[in-house]
Amino acid sequence: MARLYDSNEIAEAIDRMAGAIAKDRAGGGAFAIVGIANGGIALGRRLAGILSRRMSREVPFGVLNAQFHRDDIGSRPIPKAFMRTDIPFDITDMAIVLVDDVIGTGRTARAAINELFDHGRPSQVEIAVLCDRDGRGLPLDAKYAALRVDLAADEQVMVKLSPEPSGTDCVMTGPGVPSPLQDISGSEVECWAHKDLVTIEDISREEIDLVHSLATSFKQTLERKQKKLPSLRGKTVVNLFMEPSTRTRVAFEIAAKRLSADVVTITQAASSIVKGETLKDTAMNIQALNADMIVLRHKSAGAAAYLSRILRLPVINAGDGAHEHPTQALLDTFTMREHLGQDLSGKKITILGDILFSRVARSNIWALGKLGAKVTLAGPNTLVPQEFEKLGDNVEVVHDLKKALADADAVMLLRIQHERQSTSHFPSLKEYTASFGLNKLRASWLKPGAIIMHPGPINRGVEVDSDLADSGRSVILEQVTNGIVCRMAVLYLCANAAAIAAANSSEDLD
Ligand code: CP
Repeated sequence: MARLYDSNEIAEAIDRMAGAIAKDRAGGGAFAIVGIANGGIALGRRLAGILSRRMSREVPFGVLNAQFHRDDIGSRPIPKAFMRTDIPFDITDMAIVLVDDVIGTGRTARAAINELFDHGRPSQVEIAVLCDRDGRGLPLDAKYAALRVDLAADEQVMVKLSPEPSGTDCVMTGPGVPSPLQDISGSEVECWAHKDLVTIEDISREEIDLVHSLATSFKQTLERKQKKLPSLRGKTVVNLFMEPSTRTRVAFEIAAKRLSADVVTITQAASSIVKGETLKDTAMNIQALNADMIVLRHKSAGAAAYLSRILRLPVINAGDGAHEHPTQALLDTFTMREHLGQDLSGKKITILGDILFSRVARSNIWALGKLGAKVTLAGPNTLVPQEFEKLGDNVEVVHDLKKALADADAVMLLRIQHERQSTSHFPSLKEYTASFGLNKLRASWLKPGAIIMHPGPINRGVEVDSDLADSGRSVILEQVTNGIVCRMAVLYLCANAAAIAAANSSEDLD
C-alpha cells in the first residue's frame, strides 16, 4: 500500500481549492457547499469552514446521500450507519458546490445531482473533489479537483480525511487499500445482509435503527413535490395476500410504487389456491413469472419462512398467523420514537388485549426488547398467559389493568382476533369492554403525554372508546402513514441484499 499524499500536502491542496472557489464566487450571489455522503462530508465541512473565514460570511453546508438515485442497486451492501440527506436551507436559485472525496466514473456525482434536484432548483451545480482519479464514464467533470491521481482501472484509491483540519489525513493506493466497505483499518463495515424479512426476532438493534433511518429519509422524500424515487425501477413486487388486509396491503403497494417498482396484488379469492394449488406452487409460478419480490400474508405461522427457504427472490412477511408481523413492529416503534424520543430505553409500553393470538404483539415484544423498552402485557388471563414473560427480561404480564396502565408512555390496544380463536376466551365482548376496554377514566392512569396506539383494524367501542381513538393522544393514523416509509425501507434493503446474493452466486458458478 502506498501513501500518495500526507496531511500537509492535503491541507495545502484543500486550501488552494478553497481559494479557487472563493475567487469564482467573489462576485456575490448565494452559494452553498453540499457534501456527498459518506466520503464528501468531512471535505465539504472543511471547505465550508475555510470559505466562511476567507469570505467573512457564513457559507451554508449540507449533507446529501445519493443512495436512492444510484443506478447500481446490489453493487454494494447498505451500511448500518446510514447518513441521511440533511440540507437545512432552500437550495432554489442558489449555486451549489457538490463535494466528494474521489471522482472516478462520475456515477455517484450523477446520482447526487438527481438527489439535489429533488430538493429544489439550484441556479448552478459545480463539482469539487479532493482526488480526480480519471476513468470518467459519464459526460461530467469536477470543476475543482485538489489532487489528480493517475491509477490503473483496477487500482483502488482511499481517502482518509479527519473532520478537523488538525487531524491526520492521507490518500493511499495499492493492493492493501481497504474497499469502500471497510474502515481504514481494513475491518468490515456492518451492513444489512438479509434478502428476506421474516421475523423481528432475527434482526438486530442496529438493523432496526437502519430501517428507521432509511424510513426517515423516505419520509423527507414524501414531503417533496417529486415523491417518486427511481431505486426499484424495473423490479416487480408481488403482494400475495392470502388473508384480508387494508393497511398492510395498500401501504406495501404505495411503498413499492414510490420506489418505482411495478406492483401486482393477488388475493386468495382471485388466485388458483381456490382451485387447489398449493402455496409452494403459487409462489414458484410467481417466481417463474420473473417477479423480483414477494410480500406474503398468510394464515399459517411459518408460511413466509418456508417460502424464503425455497425461493431465490426476497420474501417479506406481511403477517403469518399468530407468529410475527415484522413491518408492523417496525412502523410501531418508528412512531413511538417520533413521539417519545429516539431512545426508548426504560420507556413503559403497555400492550393491552388479545396477546395470545397476536402476531403484532410478538413482533413488538422482540422489537421493543432490542430497543431497550419495558413491555407490559395486559388483558384477560385467558388471552395473556404468564409464559409470555419468558420472551424477555423486559416483559412483564400484569392482569391488574390499573397497574398495567399506570405511568405507561404508550398503550397499544389489540383487537380480539376471533378468526384465530377456536373457542371463546371470555364470556362476551360486552364484558371484555367493561373489564379491559380503554375509556376516558382508564386513559387518565397513563403518563401525561402518553400516546394511544392500535395496529388496526379498530373495533370502536370494544377495545377503545370511539372518542379516544379520535383524540389528540391517538397516533393510530400516524402509524398507518408511517407504514409506507418503513415498508419502503424494508423493500429497498431486501432488494439490495438479494441482488448482491444473486451476483455472488453467479460468480460462484463462474
Ligand atoms: N395492521 C394490519 O395488519 O392491518 P391490516 O390487516 O389491514 O393489514
